[in-house]
Amino acid sequence: MVAKKDLCILILAAGKGTRMKSDLPKPLHSVCGFPILSYILKAAQVLQPAAIGVVVGHGAPTVMEHVKAGMSSWGIKSPVVFAEQTDLSGSGSAVKAAMPLLQRFKTILILNGDTPLLLPETLTRLLKEFEAKKAGAAVLSVCVPDPHGYGRIIRDAKGDFDSIVEEADADDTTKQIREINSGMYVFNSNSLQQALTQLTPQGPKNEFYLTDTLALIKQMQEPVCVVSSDDYQQALGINSKAQLAEAQHVMRMRTAQRLMDEGVTILHPEQTYIDADVQIGADTVIHPNCYILGHSVIGKNCELEGDVYIKDSVIADNVTLKMGTYIEESTVETACQIGPYAHLRPKSVLKKGAKVGNFSEIKKSEIGEGSKVNHLSYIGDTQMGAGVNVGAGTITCNYDGKNKHQTIIEDHVFIGSNVNFVAPVTVHAYAKIGAGSTITKELPAGSLGIARSRQVVLENKGVKKDD
Ligand code: UD1
Ligand code: CA
Repeated sequence: MVAKKDLCILILAAGKGTRMKSDLPKPLHSVCGFPILSYILKAAQVLQPAAIGVVVGHGAPTVMEHVKAGMSSWGIKSPVVFAEQTDLSGSGSAVKAAMPLLQRFKTILILNGDTPLLLPETLTRLLKEFEAKKAGAAVLSVCVPDPHGYGRIIRDAKGDFDSIVEEADADDTTKQIREINSGMYVFNSNSLQQALTQLTPQGPKNEFYLTDTLALIKQMQEPVCVVSSDDYQQALGINSKAQLAEAQHVMRMRTAQRLMDEGVTILHPEQTYIDADVQIGADTVIHPNCYILGHSVIGKNCELEGDVYIKDSVIADNVTLKMGTYIEESTVETACQIGPYAHLRPKSVLKKGAKVGNFSEIKKSEIGEGSKVNHLSYIGDTQMGAGVNVGAGTITCNYDGKNKHQTIIEDHVFIGSNVNFVAPVTVHAYAKIGAGSTITKELPAGSLGIARSRQVVLENKGVKKDD
């Protein structure tokens, strides 16, 4: 195997991505929760090269900023160096822009920045074959059902590599070829550097094609090998929104397959949207139309009824999430029950066995062990103890128009229906609050608080029978 200290992986991510018709640079478009580029960096990192370089150009500051800010949350620990391509005249120019980096290494593995489905084991195989054949260059090819848009691999009479012809330059016979260039290559650094100096502008856009360097290296009498893979999906390049959707679909199916292999029951994988990094325990059942996104982790034996949305949250074991539950950046401990139609906003914590039900919203609050907020409530900026019963329609008035204030409700408080807490306010343990109260003052432990006007009864003022 190529010594790691001799290996540099270069990712080309400077292109305009015109066909995406988007203001967002192509490498930053999301596939199942993470940018396209993050998947390529991840695969590169597995090979433990001495350096990972990314060529940036179109939207360079935005791309660099996102990579620097996102790397650690994408699991990228290897340092990444950037090279800037100022003249966006093709993949060959992109590699030239990284020349100072290339000069420091013997072997260069080059990856297009738009193929998020690639797998590290394929790259390892490509490197191995490159080395076994003592090649000047090696390219990964796949046969695709529809080769439109890709560079075609042309083989000579002996079946060896001859050249790569781009779609724009292909005649009708060449266009029939289904073996395409995946955009993944390994080069001997010296040979590559030499070939780059010989590139001439090609095609309708006068571009310097990286793909031409392979034929040039062959002309230098160095072996150029084609390594084929049966898994053509790995080579799917994202150039358009349709290809973005296609890649997302493949990635989603891969994730669903991984989770099912780990014992998760997914009723309808095609209609379940689980991001690539999500972890779920065995025997959890996921009904259709659930979204489980970002860095979410779900335990064992949970049930997610349909239409559940979970983002960047941690859900423990034996939790039931009824239909329409929406959870963001929150933590739910074991045996909780949420929904139908409940909303946990960021920084909410439900302790063991808590219940949040129908049309209730929780924000930045802790709901203590076994406590219940079952109907039509808003609980915000609240610290709630264990065994609290919150009556229907209870609201914490946490905002005075300028600032947010805290409500503290201690263990075993019983709250009647339709109570308002005007924060900041504290209710001590075992207090009871009468229905319809607006609580503005601290309630001592074990007290009864009633804060509503007394009922007035006026005889014969009701509906007249003849009205
Ligand atoms: C490229 C290959 C094609 C291959 C296909 C695989 C060339 C000339 N063609 O075509 O043979 O089948 O990928 O997906 O390479 N880039 C830059 N700077 C530029 C232009 C492009 O960094 O000036 C980067 C892009 O960001 C992209 C990669 O190079 O990541 C490939 O460019 P793209 O325009 O997507 O090439 P394709 O037409 O897909
Ligand atoms: Ca492409």
